Amino acid sequence: MPPLDESAPFEPAPVEIEDIGSNPARLVAGRETLAEIAERRLSRRTALLGLAALTQLPAAAAAESDGPSSLGFTELSHRLSQRDAVAPGHEIQTVIRWGDPVLADAPAFDPQAVTAAAQAQQFGYNNDYVDYLPLPHGSQNSEHGLLVVNHEYTNTNMMFPGLGAGRSAALKASAAQAAAEMAAHGMSVVELRREGGRWSPVAAGRLNRRITAETPIRIGGPAAGHERLRTNADPTGTQVLGTLNNCSGGNTPWGTVLTAEENFNVYFGGAAATTGEQKDHYRRYGILSESLYSWSRHTDRFNLDKEPNEPNRFGWVVEFDPYDPTSVPVKRTALGHFKHECCNHAISADGRVAIYMGDDERFEYIYKFVTARRWHPTDRAANRDLLDEGTLFVARCLDDGRLEWLPLVHGEGPLTAANGFASQAEVLIETRRAADLLGATPMDRPEDVEPNPLTGRIYAMLTNNTARGGQRLDRANPRAANAHGHVVELIPPGAGTSQVDHVAPVGRWEIFLLAGKPGVDAGARYHRATSDQGWLSCPDNCTFDRKGRIWIATDGAPSAAGVADGLYAADTAGYGRGLTRLFYQAPTGAEVCGPCFTPDGETIFLAIQHPGEEAGSSFERPTTRWPDFQPGMPPRPSVIAITRKGGGEIGS
Ligand code: FEO
Ligand code: CA
Ligand code: CA
Repeated sequence: MPPLDESAPFEPAPVEIEDIGSNPARLVAGRETLAEIAERRLSRRTALLGLAALTQLPAAAAAESDGPSSLGFTELSHRLSQRDAVAPGHEIQTVIRWGDPVLADAPAFDPQAVTAAAQAQQFGYNNDYVDYLPLPHGSQNSEHGLLVVNHEYTNTNMMFPGLGAGRSAALKASAAQAAAEMAAHGMSVVELRREGGRWSPVAAGRLNRRITAETPIRIGGPAAGHERLRTNADPTGTQVLGTLNNCSGGNTPWGTVLTAEENFNVYFGGAAATTGEQKDHYRRYGILSESLYSWSRHTDRFNLDKEPNEPNRFGWVVEFDPYDPTSVPVKRTALGHFKHECCNHAISADGRVAIYMGDDERFEYIYKFVTARRWHPTDRAANRDLLDEGTLFVARCLDDGRLEWLPLVHGEGPLTAANGFASQAEVLIETRRAADLLGATPMDRPEDVEPNPLTGRIYAMLTNNTARGGQRLDRANPRAANAHGHVVELIPPGAGTSQVDHVAPVGRWEIFLLAGKPGVDAGARYHRATSDQGWLSCPDNCTFDRKGRIWIATDGAPSAAGVADGLYAADTAGYGRGLTRLFYQAPTGAEVCGPCFTPDGETIFLAIQHPGEEAGSSFERPTTRWPDFQPGMPPRPSVIAITRKGGGEIGS
């Protein structure tokens, strides 16, 4: 995330934008949500049952087997370094870096001449979500495919020489530099091949593509055309330029990619955010009167005094077809308007598709969207607008372990004109306020929320929340001042069978682990055999391997726990359930994103985001020498591939 602090060598750790928090139900002392009131009324007995769910992990594990973790690698030791590291017997390859060519006419990377024209043809900045889609579509090809990558935001101070460090550098960016930043946002699609064990981009691959902050995108679903989405440039409210702050994402069974617009609020400037008629709405989304970027000084649409509705056109899930480089991406408003971290799908037993999503800010919520229709496995065109029609739900975790999915449907419950919702479009535009009224459970910053394809259980990475006070605890967010985060399992009916019901409005939840260093950080809880190296802090992204084991990437561990961010793996069932092991460590200042396996499980791709993003770091004064460091060359966000020396499945 963009740091808010000014640069200085010995200043406190950067404040993340998610740390601001804007849910008034949690920020106003003494005010309880409906869920809190209901949960407070639960009996002491049911509260104790919730505690049983929390503590059952080691006991259940011990009952199954005395065998070790199923993961075969030797774990790393915690450390901080300018270089990265992987478990012995594995190999790291750099696949593509910020500035590498994507399109046919892309110029070679020149860090002294970063321009909009060059960036629009090169690999963008700060890679987050990573997907690998086999070529051809429908195959399981693990040696030829499309790498699809999000470019979440830009570190202006690391992109351009002479601006200095920290937030002030971004605000000093010129019109040309701001245009280059816009071109460095968005997404890249890059054709990849593995030959002789080495992964390489295919130069000028036919399907290679850049999507930027200025790519024409259609707005679809119930909010399309609503007056609050109309601007001077788009009086129809159906066409928007670009996608912003694309954090994590997901894909669909029909081979499209979903990208999640997260901290869209930081790009806008102007007084309207604090004085205009939408000010309460803006406040709920943390839309600042003062931007973290210079864009609003150079481009009218980012100036709220000129285009007060422009922020309503970001903060959505965007779907596009990477197999068609001419396809127009679509913002799917039916999936809600919030700081989308991710959008991971599961196919329900009846053929409908559920998309699980986190709203990444303190005290925000977990959502799922369920399509109205079944997906069509053999007719790709029939699925084209499937995500425009369906029901959005928000999660409520009761203290007794029950899970309720509350529908955000206009006219139902409190979502009526009496509460300011004239239509379903307005429920969606103000998703957060609608979820507040329904009594959703405020969580400790929901990042990735991803189904385990083998079991149907959903894993929610709750990265941290130091603002949760002792009087605000619930069983699903059980720690005050939660600096290290935790992982919650959401369990739909039928989980573990072939008949998982992702449509049902009910389920159960359990705590999978409570992060932090055992014995040091209050309440840290893992499998009892977790080693001194295996504990983690600040879970962010996750994925699952072919055996259903979870791989968790972290963001924020250096400041929270004094260890590098990394990638950890654990069994989700059997003796090793919850026994996390450290597989990969990032270089100084970087977080690890986008863990993604090839279908054969022999390669895992990782996005190494914002290397060198530390207090005092700048283009001239980077804090990391990774990778391929040369004087006058800032560290470059990169996608890497990890394979086993000699071949074989990762983790086996
Ligand atoms: Fe962009 Fe929630 O991390
Ligand atoms: Ca994230
Ligand atoms: Ca992150």
